[in-house]
Amino acid sequence: MSGSTRRYWTDVRGESWWRYRVGRPPLLGRITSIPSLPTQVGSVEFSNPVLTASGTAGHGAELAPYIDLAGLGAVVTKSVHADPWPGNPAPRVHQATAGMLNAVGLQGPGVEAWLADDLPALIETGATVVASIWGRTVDDYRRAAEAMAAAPSQVVAVEVNLSCPNVEDRAGMFAHSAEATTAAMAVTEACGRPRWAKLSPNAGDLVPIVDAAVEGGAEAVTLVNTVMGMAIDPVSRTYRLGNGGGGLSGPAIHPIAVRAVHDVAAARPEVPIVGVGGVTDAETAAELLVAGASAIQVGTASFGDPRSAGRIASGLVDWCLNNGVGDLSELIGAVHDRRS
Ligand SMILES: Cc1cc2nc3c(=O)[nH]c(=O)nc-3n(C[C@H](O)[C@H](O)[C@H](O)COP(=O)(O)O)c2cc1C
Repeated sequence: MSGSTRRYWTDVRGESWWRYRVGRPPLLGRITSIPSLPTQVGSVEFSNPVLTASGTAGHGAELAPYIDLAGLGAVVTKSVHADPWPGNPAPRVHQATAGMLNAVGLQGPGVEAWLADDLPALIETGATVVASIWGRTVDDYRRAAEAMAAAPSQVVAVEVNLSCPNVEDRAGMFAHSAEATTAAMAVTEACGRPRWAKLSPNAGDLVPIVDAAVEGGAEAVTLVNTVMGMAIDPVSRTYRLGNGGGGLSGPAIHPIAVRAVHDVAAARPEVPIVGVGGVTDAETAAELLVAGASAIQVGTASFGDPRSAGRIASGLVDWCLNNGVGDLSELIGAVHDRRS
């Protein structure tokens, strides 16, 4: 999809529209607008607590024909490396019970090409953007953050995906090591924006990793990335994914996300949390907020229905009305007040 053939605008009544100029007559559609439900993650204010999850909403404006992207809290874009990256061999996704396994391998065009080719169409929709970066070395993170400094002001924060293999340390992912987490976060200061550390549930005890991320300059943490998984075809005796293993996401990991958000909020109530994992509707979104998240992200649900994030963002407003919630502060972390 190109920004030059697809246009987005808001009319005098505040309704959002898209028009696709290829073909006759041009395709035209109205995007249902999302009511506001303000929240704050660290120093950044959002009009709605529902964001997209990195890697599940494309690099740019791919979801614009389906959702009022400007009405979402933010679009979190797919993680980009400092350089172009080819990703993993196919097959890259496999349906699992109550979720999906993926081993996309962070394919992307590199930060500079992303800024030039993908971001402008997304900005044109009026969306608030959180850009995601990744690396395989500490220097990769530094270079990606430096390149991201050229992003326009609509990129309000940078999410640093630390669930990546650390090629300088055979111990595994950055997010599995407190030292590597601090080192990678510290060099991303160069992006000149608030930074969120996206952490892995595979780390076990997340609290020392959260502390390490904060030490490296993280203003908030995003919990959680996918859970390590694998699928094998017993007939052919081969892996179902081209990479062998992959990451499990979707409803299967929702209780893991709730637990991670809950336990970090209990141990570090001063650290803002963005919750992600298996959100499929307003109630599962509200559950992560009550566990302690200030905002939530919708990932795998968007593959089943690209309108999911918009439906959940609007649905959460109705859910709050139906449950007597006047302000999100009544919800965020509320379960912790109930513990004796
Ligand atoms: C196909 C796919 C690609 C993903 N790519 C990224 C990525 O580029 N960066 C990242 O931080 N997380 C990535 N994730 C993880 C999601 O952002 C999210 O943390 C995870 O899927 C859990 O949320 P969900 O259950 O709502 O999908 C990806 C997930 C999927 C399913």
